[in-house]
Amino acid sequence: MILNVVFMFAILRLANTGDPNILNDFVASNNTIDANYFTFTEMRQLVGGEYPTTFRALKVSMNEFPTLNGQSISYAILEFPPNSVNPVHIHPRASEIMFLVTGSLQVGFVDTSDKLYTQSLQVGDIFVFPTGLVHFQYNNDTKEPALAISAFGSANAGTQPIPTSVFNTSIFEGILDASFHATRATIRKIEEGLKE
Ligand SMILES: *[C@@H]1O[C@H](CO)[C@@H](O)[C@H](O)[C@H]1NC(C)=O
Ligand SMILES: *[C@@H]1O[C@H](CO)[C@@H](O)[C@H](O)[C@H]1NC(C)=O
Ligand SMILES: *[C@@H]1O[C@H](CO)[C@@H](O)[C@H](O)[C@H]1NC(C)=O
Repeated sequence: MILNVVFMFAILRLANTGDPNILNDFVASNNTIDANYFTFTEMRQLVGGEYPTTFRALKVSMNEFPTLNGQSISYAILEFPPNSVNPVHIHPRASEIMFLVTGSLQVGFVDTSDKLYTQSLQVGDIFVFPTGLVHFQYNNDTKEPALAISAFGSANAGTQPIPTSVFNTSIFEGILDASFHATRATIRKIEEGLKE
């Protein structure tokens, strides 16, 4: 009986994770596609390329690679020049599993009880950011860049950067004052900082 309940719970969990199922092997617009439809070549730009001067995420979601539609997977290549941050953000639709290929990273996420989990990653480490939780990655090295590859359990995980989604939208400032127990001047200062 208990086992049945556990099993049912597992099925329910399964039904609640990932993208909706598709009823075909893959989603294609016509019958004449070939292997090229399953190949994404835009990351060749990384081979022998230079690091950007600020943090950059090269996304490979269904927006960039429509073939992923229905496959419940996507990628992002994360490039961190020395002393750069991927600001606190959320992926509403997927968990993220990140592999650190070069350099070092300070990473962390906050769970729904506001508990912070942080880690210092070294090359070869893998870290998981659970679905929908606020998280960040930071290259604290002043000389060495870092490169990480993240995979997501959705073809379109979505990214909601906390700084801009809170302070660079049209949320009435009175709401922000009250939400953050801050003066209007403080809120304005944060808003101005994001415009620089
Ligand atoms: C079929 O789809 C593939 C992949 O999107 C595309 O490259 C090709 O041009 C399409 N062929 C026709 C006849 O529409
Ligand atoms: C970054 O490195 C400095 C010097 O080692 C250290 O004092 C600081 O705590 C580090 N910051 C983070 C966020 O790890
Ligand atoms: C803030 O919003 C403006 C207008 O939508 C946009 O042009 C700007 O890039 C945004 N700033 C940041 C830091 O995202």
